[in-house]
Amino acid sequence: MKDHSVKLRLLKMLSDGHFHSGEALGELLGMSRAAISKHIQGIQQWGMDIHRVQGKGYQLARPLMMLDEHRIRSQVTNPVELHPIIDSTNQYLLDNSHMISSGTVCIAEYQNKGRGRRGRHWVSPFGSNLYFSMYWRLDAGMAAAMGLSLVIGVAIVEALEEMGLNGIKLKWPNDLYYQDRKLAGILVEMSGQAGGAAHLVIGIGMNLIMQDENIAIDQPWTSLSQVLGQEYIDRNQLVIKLIQALNRSLENYEQHGMQEFVERWNRLDNFLGRRVHLIIGPNKITGIERGIDQSGGVLLETPEGIKSYLGGEISLRKGDDE
Ligand code: ATP
Ligand code: BTN
Repeated sequence: MKDHSVKLRLLKMLSDGHFHSGEALGELLGMSRAAISKHIQGIQQWGMDIHRVQGKGYQLARPLMMLDEHRIRSQVTNPVELHPIIDSTNQYLLDNSHMISSGTVCIAEYQNKGRGRRGRHWVSPFGSNLYFSMYWRLDAGMAAAMGLSLVIGVAIVEALEEMGLNGIKLKWPNDLYYQDRKLAGILVEMSGQAGGAAHLVIGIGMNLIMQDENIAIDQPWTSLSQVLGQEYIDRNQLVIKLIQALNRSLENYEQHGMQEFVERWNRLDNFLGRRVHLIIGPNKITGIERGIDQSGGVLLETPEGIKSYLGGEISLRKGDDE
C-alpha cells in the first residue's frame, strides 16, 4: 500500500487556512521545497484546491475540517475506523466482514474507487464530502434485506431534518435529492448464503462542500453547503448523527420490517404525483409515480392501472415534459 503520510501531514498543516511557505513546510517535514511541491501536486490530484502565491506559499482554497476518529468514537458504541485514503469504504468492509462486528463503521477522506449502483463511478474528492459505510449482520437473511436502502434513505433524511435541514427528498430507490438535484447516494451490498445470515454493507456518499463546476458528473447534483447556505459543516457531528440514526432504524427494521417505513418514505418522495420514466434495460415506461409499497417496489400509474416495479436494474428518471 502506498504511504500517504507526508501528504496527510501537509494537509493537517494547511488545514488552518493560512499561507505556508514551501520552505517552512519543507523544514518541518525534513525535505526540500521541490519535494513539497511534488506532494502538493499529488494532493491536488485528490481533488483538493490549493493556491500558490509567489512570496507567500501555499494555502487551501477552503478551510478543511478533517475527520476525527477519536471524537466520533467517544460519542457512539460502534467500532469506527477512519482510513483517510481508501479504494472504497464499502469494499473495505466487504473484504473484512468475516472479522468485524455488526455495526462497524468505516469512513474516509478520499476514495480512489468509490462506486455507485452497477459499478458506476462515485466522484470522491478529498475532504469535501462524506464517504461512509456500515457493516450490519442481518440474522433474518438475504430476503429480509430487500428494501433496506429505502429504510436507510428515510433514516438519513429524518436525521438531517432533526438537525434543522428541510426540503431534502428521496428518489427511489437509493438517492437523496434537494431541489431536483442529487445530494447523496446509498449503496447496499451484501454477501451471504441462502438460508444463512446476510452480511450487509450500507454505503452512503453525501456531497458536503464539493463545489467544482467542472467535475465529471453527468446529472444535476448539489451539496449540503448549498442546502445550508453556508460552507461550514461539522463533518464529525454529521457522522455521529448518522451512526445513531442508522443504529435505531436498522434495529427497528429487524423487528418490524418495512411496515412503518412506507408512509415515512412516501412523505419524503421527491417524485410523488409527478410524471416519471422507469428505465428497465432497453425499455422505458412512462407514468405518474405513486410512492412505494410494502415490498419496497415503486408504484407507477399508467393507462393500464397502478403497478409495482422492483429490481436492481430499474432506474427512475424525471419526466422530460416537466
Ligand atoms: P439510478 O440508481 O436510479 O440508476 P443514478 O444514475 O444516480 O441512479 P447510481 O449508480 O445510483 O446511478 O449513482 C452513480 C451516478 O451518480 C453516476 O453515474 C453519476 O451520474 C452520479 N454521481 C457520481 N458521483 C456523484 C457525486 N459525488 N454526487 C452526485 N452524483 C454523483
Ligand atoms: C449511488 O448513488 O449509486 C450510491 C453511491 C454510494 C457511494 C458511497 S461512498 C461510500 C461507499 N463506498 C463506495 O464505494 N460507495 C459508497
